[in-house]
Amino acid sequence: MVSAHVIVDRDFVLADLDRRIFGAFVEHMGRCVYGGIYEPGHASADERGFRGDVLALTRELGPTIVRYPGGNFLSGYNWEDGVGPVAERPRRMDLAWFSTESNHFGTNEFIEWAKAAGTEPMLGVNLGTRGPDEARRFLEYCNHPGGTQLSDLRHEHGHAEPHDVKFWCLGNEMDGPWQINAKTAEEYGRAAHETAKVMRWVDPSIELAACGSSHREMATFAAWEYEVLEHCFDDVDFISLHTYFTNPHGTTEEFFGNIERMDSFIKEVVAVADAAAAKRRSPRRIMLSFDEWNVWYKARGHDFQRVPGWPEAPALIEEVYNVEDALVVGGALITLLNNADHVRCACLAQLVNVIGPIMTETGGPAWRQTIFHPFALAARYATGRVLRAVVKSPSYAAESAPEIPYLLASVVEDEASGRVVIFALNRHLSEDMELSVALRGFELRSVETALQVHHSNMKATNTRDAPDTLAPMPLEGATIAEGTLSARLRPGSWNVIVVATAPSVLAM
Ligand code: AHR
Repeated sequence: MVSAHVIVDRDFVLADLDRRIFGAFVEHMGRCVYGGIYEPGHASADERGFRGDVLALTRELGPTIVRYPGGNFLSGYNWEDGVGPVAERPRRMDLAWFSTESNHFGTNEFIEWAKAAGTEPMLGVNLGTRGPDEARRFLEYCNHPGGTQLSDLRHEHGHAEPHDVKFWCLGNEMDGPWQINAKTAEEYGRAAHETAKVMRWVDPSIELAACGSSHREMATFAAWEYEVLEHCFDDVDFISLHTYFTNPHGTTEEFFGNIERMDSFIKEVVAVADAAAAKRRSPRRIMLSFDEWNVWYKARGHDFQRVPGWPEAPALIEEVYNVEDALVVGGALITLLNNADHVRCACLAQLVNVIGPIMTETGGPAWRQTIFHPFALAARYATGRVLRAVVKSPSYAAESAPEIPYLLASVVEDEASGRVVIFALNRHLSEDMELSVALRGFELRSVETALQVHHSNMKATNTRDAPDTLAPMPLEGATIAEGTLSARLRPGSWNVIVVATAPSVLAM
């Protein structure tokens, strides 16, 4: 048995939680849109072609915001292709994924789908093949109430009310040589500055995210962020981060190191953004949008990313997730919570089929992948404010990270509902963990809910025929006494414990 201890104090608040950290991502890639969220003719589809089974699972997953339409796809996308009468929309070669794009699904369909899914839409403007002019026109089409050619066109297309999209990405991974029309930091920084400027003139209420590096291992990482912010520091609200966890060592112990590296990555980008602020003596702070993250290594090579012959919606990067992937995703969610003072938005990439928590069969059923569960539980139970958690845990050394504490934990308080929620990952793979959480300043009433994501086989998966191999189970035996929560966590388990508290006097 390993022991670990957490101390929080109700007065020591890290940040009010921006629930946009529970975002997801829908790209025109593989079967994410076609055969994923949209499949006219499917038994569960509505009159708009939205798959009802996927919509129901999306609502259960609970993404607060969904990024669209890409990804790499964005850098060659003409938004005009995806609006207006469907029969008149052009078929195009998509050079991001070497597929044929029918454009049967576009912006208005996405906005309607997001409404049906109960989520906020996040859009991107193409800064690969296009630039500020296309961006301001797209924004005018989406958000201007009416009385101009483009806003009236939206009316003609059946949408009299403005879409009022608040969150906009200025391009995607513009530093990546794989990107359609990649740019240097100077070229991109200038483009982001000019694009942001005119977009804000069209709609000053929007929030804008500039592209950070495609990932932390890019040779230009950190220098890219700094130079980009040199150009657009005063114009943008966010800098983006992307990361996909891999498993080169093939062991769960090493795989957990990804979570530590995600934490370092966040802190490095904060440091760079703050350095850009310091250089200007600016009190302004750029926040982080971690708008692509997930586990992705099993379906990663060239053959998973390209099917010859320019097919429509081929099966691409359909990663099948196992139990250790769910634990790493759960750990990443705890890391995002523990950086809630800087990370104000994050998107699990992607939503359906393409490295997705939801899997479908075209013409068949839909089911929850293993990673669905920690995400759905975190999105459901993490509301309110994140407390500063001091964690005392033994740790182990690994090649992927020098020191990995067995316990990773985050504590969130929802003052309004009188609940404090503990998220805890036991990274010890052979021993139970005796967990105690000192909840100082709270009057504890009862353990309301205690659930664990755990399976003895780290390689077990959820499949079409066995969709519930991994599903949350009750965590028995969690107790409260003298201001402390105690629980025994299984080896290799991700847990959520909800404790009812007396409401705070301040919240009343
Ligand atoms: O999510 C898959 C791809 O990964 C996205 O299109 C791109 O932005 C990233 O490289």
